[in-house]
Amino acid sequence: MQAPSDSAATSPGLPPYPEGWYFVASRQALARTGLIAKRWMGIEIVAWADDQGRPCVAESYCPHLGAYLGPDGGGRVCEGRLVCPFHGFEFDTTGQCVRTPYAAAPRSAALRVFETREIAGMVFAWWGLEGRVPQWHLPAETPEQDGWCEIEIRTLRFPGHPQETTENAVDLAHLRYVHGYDGVGQADPIEVDGAALLSRFSFQSDRRIGPLRYASLDVTALTSVHGLGYSFVEFLERNLGLDGRLWILSTPVDGDQIDLSIVSQLREMTLPRGLAWPLNALPRAPRTSLLNRFLNYIQHRDVLQDVAIWSRKRYRARPRLCRSDGEIMRYRSYCSQFYPAKESAPAVSDDRSGDMQAAAG
Ligand code: FES
Ligand SMILES: [Fe+2]
Repeated sequence: MQAPSDSAATSPGLPPYPEGWYFVASRQALARTGLIAKRWMGIEIVAWADDQGRPCVAESYCPHLGAYLGPDGGGRVCEGRLVCPFHGFEFDTTGQCVRTPYAAAPRSAALRVFETREIAGMVFAWWGLEGRVPQWHLPAETPEQDGWCEIEIRTLRFPGHPQETTENAVDLAHLRYVHGYDGVGQADPIEVDGAALLSRFSFQSDRRIGPLRYASLDVTALTSVHGLGYSFVEFLERNLGLDGRLWILSTPVDGDQIDLSIVSQLREMTLPRGLAWPLNALPRAPRTSLLNRFLNYIQHRDVLQDVAIWSRKRYRARPRLCRSDGEIMRYRSYCSQFYPAKESAPAVSDDRSGDMQAAAG
């Protein structure tokens, strides 16, 4: 690991692109737009799915003569294949060129693709140091979807780093100070198992609009962190009777900005209690979706309080901690595996390695 140092800019003491799985797009967005283009981990990528629903995440420059393949450059998807706007080469979801309009497809013409994994309608791609293959995986099981509403996603972009945003999962002191939660408690010490980290905690929170208290929440939560791009929170709220999930997905854009996606999902509820009782007039599915949208909104409001801190903070490699800060340094030691030494990464044989070195710098 490079020795991170205290620093004046946002987080330059940390390499900008830690190894791991990072969110690309939702299945819904892929279906809606057909072809997505974005900046991700410092490079331009495109994402689409073929007629069987297999997603592909690829670098968005054609291996033929380098045309840009995003939709605003004329790239399009035809019968599940990505078609280049310059000479019409077509690529399947393995990245291979399988057709051209005027000659046999050259075998050597292939897009640089990233391994993908889909969980609950969200597509993730692996970012490996110098292009190396996945060193670990996201959880094999997708959480049960029957009886749960559709996911709701909201994304914020700001200057930050995924190690800093994920650190809040073990920084319980900030829950009280920044978000005003009461009775914050860690049930057990955090558990680390390879790339997975588990943290259990509980808190109470009065939710207000101005001076008006509209709910009093009593929450227990289990956070499962899998690398710095994927945090999954399962929670139970006792007063309203909510059984819910949150995914907090932190994705570097360009070495300065990150996208933080807040994804929420609720189990369909029979009888919401407390102030949610008027919602009982609605059928169960729309009632749960409405509550989920509201949950996402209030979670997003909480995260905005964090963003105000994250977007201005400096990374402290040697933080001066107090006794009850507990698990911060254990978390940092867990993080070091996502910045492997370059010497331990196998060499990449094609011309990608230059890009990767620059990106992983
Ligand atoms: S540059 Fe893409 S087909 Fe020629
Ligand atoms: Fe927070």
